[in-house]
Amino acid sequence: MNFDQKLFKVILLGDAGVGKTSLMNTYVNQTFSEQYKATIGADFLTKELKIWDTAGQERFQSLSVAFYRGADCCVLIYDVNDLKTFESLEVWRDEFLVQAGPEEPDSFPFVVIGNKIDLNQRTVARQRAEAWCHEKGGLEHFETSAKESINVDKAFNAIAKKVLKKE
Ligand code: GTP
Ligand code: MG
Repeated sequence: MNFDQKLFKVILLGDAGVGKTSLMNTYVNQTFSEQYKATIGADFLTKELKIWDTAGQERFQSLSVAFYRGADCCVLIYDVNDLKTFESLEVWRDEFLVQAGPEEPDSFPFVVIGNKIDLNQRTVARQRAEAWCHEKGGLEHFETSAKESINVDKAFNAIAKKVLKKE
């Protein structure tokens, strides 16, 4: 048993408003707020994993290469009711790979989350998202609601499992 545990670094990426901060708060604190307060720069919460929340508005401008380096997992988040946020995942993924420069980009552990399923106004079919995940090397995909706490634990537990396996 290794008690000298390393805190794994997980980075949340995705367009502004998709629910990155909300998912983290639901997972770590079991709290949800309807009010939108855009994240500025980056912030983190810790629960087994050190989860880094980033600002969708700023894309990659404000955070340095040093921030992304050493990431153990990158979670790409979109809103299932907003197609544009899904289409952005390609760019988020590409830019992450450029910035973080992982040794093995083809097998780097990304996880994909489609959030806000409680709104029931989806414009991104599950199959479409799964096809994209498959195309990118079989990425794990979850559909969640931070608001109603649906699948959030499941998604983050899978993330934890993934980074533990990587070690
Ligand atoms: P940036 O920090 O700007 O990048 O945005 P973000 O991705 O952190 O989004 P945030 O978590 O701040 O959520 C944006 C808005 O969506 C807030 O008003 C939340 O209350 C709402 N929201 C987040 N998750 C859900 C969800 O699962 N369902 C519903 N209905 N609303 C959600
Ligand atoms: Mg935020």
